[in-house]
Amino acid sequence: MALRIAVLPGDGIGPEVTRAALGVLRAACSLGGIDVEAAEYPIGGAALRATGSPLPDATLAACLASDAVFLGAVGDPAFDGEPRERKPETGLLRLRKSLGVFANVRPAKAVPGLSAAGPLKPEIAAGLDLVVFRELTGGLYFGEPRSLDLAAGRAVNTLPYTREEVERIAELAFRASEGRRGLVTSVDKANVLETSVLWRRVVEEVATRHPAVRLEHQYVDSCAMALVLTPSRFDVLLTENLFGDILSDLAGALVGSLGLLPSASLGAGPGLFEPVHGSAPTLAGKDVANPIGAILSMAMLLRDGCALPRPAAVIEAAVEKVLAEGLRTPDLATPGSPATSCSAFAKAVAGSVAGSVA
Ligand code: NAD
Ligand code: IPM
Ligand code: MN
Repeated sequence: MALRIAVLPGDGIGPEVTRAALGVLRAACSLGGIDVEAAEYPIGGAALRATGSPLPDATLAACLASDAVFLGAVGDPAFDGEPRERKPETGLLRLRKSLGVFANVRPAKAVPGLSAAGPLKPEIAAGLDLVVFRELTGGLYFGEPRSLDLAAGRAVNTLPYTREEVERIAELAFRASEGRRGLVTSVDKANVLETSVLWRRVVEEVATRHPAVRLEHQYVDSCAMALVLTPSRFDVLLTENLFGDILSDLAGALVGSLGLLPSASLGAGPGLFEPVHGSAPTLAGKDVANPIGAILSMAMLLRDGCALPRPAAVIEAAVEKVLAEGLRTPDLATPGSPATSCSAFAKAVAGSVAGSVA
């Protein structure tokens, strides 16, 4: 039986990194004797232009019927200032909610040599190996009431969480930490927000079921500082939707480029796999985007979305090999070393995958 992947290239650099990642997926699946049916559907600005909706019904139906969904990125400055129903980002948020993918898993790991492209001293970046468990279908992003009255100069957003919403993401974060270094840092703002007080209480209850894991709580402002000063001490960061959005981009900068980070969004049905970065409009169409976040999201799609750990590991090893050979997209290039294009980097990874032993 073939793997049925719904592919949503989206906007800006989305189509370029999607093409790169699909080439690598096909190489890994052909090596493993796995048939892939990858059909493309519009989302975001591309879908708004084509259909007037940022998440057409046909796209959502294909995603719900798939084994897993891959998304490039959404976001197009042409829709800045439009109402919410006409924003590319609304398509992505509706998709996440409709798929019920409440757990957004965002690993960040320093690769020797790469963090030189980032702001940290090498000795501080060394050993950075963390994963953000970001709650994805609740909090400020979806809370009601919400409103915008520009004429009256008043706007409202609401930050709700229920015990169940906190418990299910916390449970997954603790389980992940059991297979890692055994530290969960729960990030909140419990000195100010009632939601965070509930968050802490529920996380502490979940912790009692995982005695091998140490739990610590940290306020989000202090956590942002600690991530820059001592990033290697973190293992699993467990946090709500907006804090996780912000801290994961910070983690991207720390490892050398936001373009490196992959993600998996998991729930009961098909998972959604997308790089952490956005549509980077200024890079679009130039073949300069870093495809690694997208390629590693394909590896997560295979491992976490389709229970295929072997081709996932082949892809990860191929990315490491190509980096060890010195290939760098412009975001990672250091003075004196020529940069490689997005497509050439992806071709090298696909070639390395094809040359692997199945
Ligand atoms: P962005 O992630 O697109 O870009 C931030 C910075 O990182 C830019 O300097 C960009 O050039 C760089 N960058 C991002 N990805 C890169 C890559 N693969 N290779 C090299 N450099 C890369 O964030 P932004 O500029 O704040 O947002 C642009 C648009 O993307 C907005 O419309 C936003 O809503 C959207 N967005 C979408 C997603 C998503 O689809 N999941 C995520 C974040 C932002
Ligand atoms: C991300 C993005 C999205 C988010 C936007 C585009 C809705 O920033 O995936 O990190 O805020 O979740
Ligand atoms: Mn983000």
